Amino acid sequence: MVRRSFLPGNVGLAPMAGVTDYAFRTICFKHGAQFAFTEMISAKSVLLNISINEIYFPKEDEKNKVGVQLFGSDPYELAEAAAMVQERGLWVDLNAGCPVNKVIKKGAGSGLLKDFENLRAVVREMRKVVKRFSVKTRIGWDKDEFEKIYDILVSEGVDMIFVHGRTAKQMYSGKARWDIYNPKSVPLYMSGDIYTREDIKRAMEESGADGVIVARGAIGNPWIFSGSEPSFGSKLQTILEHIEKLYELYGKHGVVEFRKFVAGYTKDMPYAREFRSKVMKITDVEELKCAFQKYFEEFRTA
Ligand SMILES: Cc1cc2nc3c(=O)[nH]c(=O)nc-3n(C[C@H](O)[C@H](O)[C@H](O)COP(=O)(O)O)c2cc1C
Repeated sequence: MVRRSFLPGNVGLAPMAGVTDYAFRTICFKHGAQFAFTEMISAKSVLLNISINEIYFPKEDEKNKVGVQLFGSDPYELAEAAAMVQERGLWVDLNAGCPVNKVIKKGAGSGLLKDFENLRAVVREMRKVVKRFSVKTRIGWDKDEFEKIYDILVSEGVDMIFVHGRTAKQMYSGKARWDIYNPKSVPLYMSGDIYTREDIKRAMEESGADGVIVARGAIGNPWIFSGSEPSFGSKLQTILEHIEKLYELYGKHGVVEFRKFVAGYTKDMPYAREFRSKVMKITDVEELKCAFQKYFEEFRTA
């Protein structure tokens, strides 16, 4: 029996640690993202009940469209953590793709793709307790082994698969592939190098996937979800709103958090380099908003 997706749409925001927080998710939802993930959360930290985790969990107004992503390598730890957090979002996703050293050296993230037996054990234990369960994976550790990975995930009963079309060794470079193994036993969502509406369409066509998740292509460009070209005024308005939301979430530190988005929001704008280097030094929220207003004003009248 082919499983049906429980997601509220087919184009979502991919998980990005340090990026896809409540503020950015809200901005992307406003522009048409149909679902999203939390940043990855350590299963161990959930079990230790670490209070800083609170900031990662979905908020009430987005609970029915955000998945909670966990990472770890111990099957029982992951299952216990998943059982604890599953009611906090729409579903639970297992991270089997993160290539960062401090994660893989503990066998977590894409480290799971080096040990298929443990991957199977993790998925099996999580499946026993998680109601709505997906895995986000890469196509392999150092070569394309997606067929094997897919078959493990499906035989252990996952509801959906998200796949980033690169190996772990590729990190984030090289072209992501979209022509992957997809016998359509479960809904599959493609990730990797999706920067335009045309990419969304082509990634779905080439992979036969049910949908896509947009990652770096959404940073500074939440309009990728609506497909509309923002007017000058609405772009500025979104930027100011994003700054405000980060400020609400993190206080003064929100200004520093916004720096990750400056390059994206000012892409292809005149004198962007000079503006960016100036803006990166600002630490006050009002000053930051004023700098953007002034810059956009100058651009408008230029
Ligand atoms: C800064 C950054 C942080 C990321 N963090 C996560 C994460 O926490 N969990 C995860 O599954 N993938 C994470 N990813 C991978 C993305 O979800 C996505 O699969 C990958 O970036 C490929 O898509 P892209 O080429 O369109 O950026 C991250 C990517 C980036 C760039």
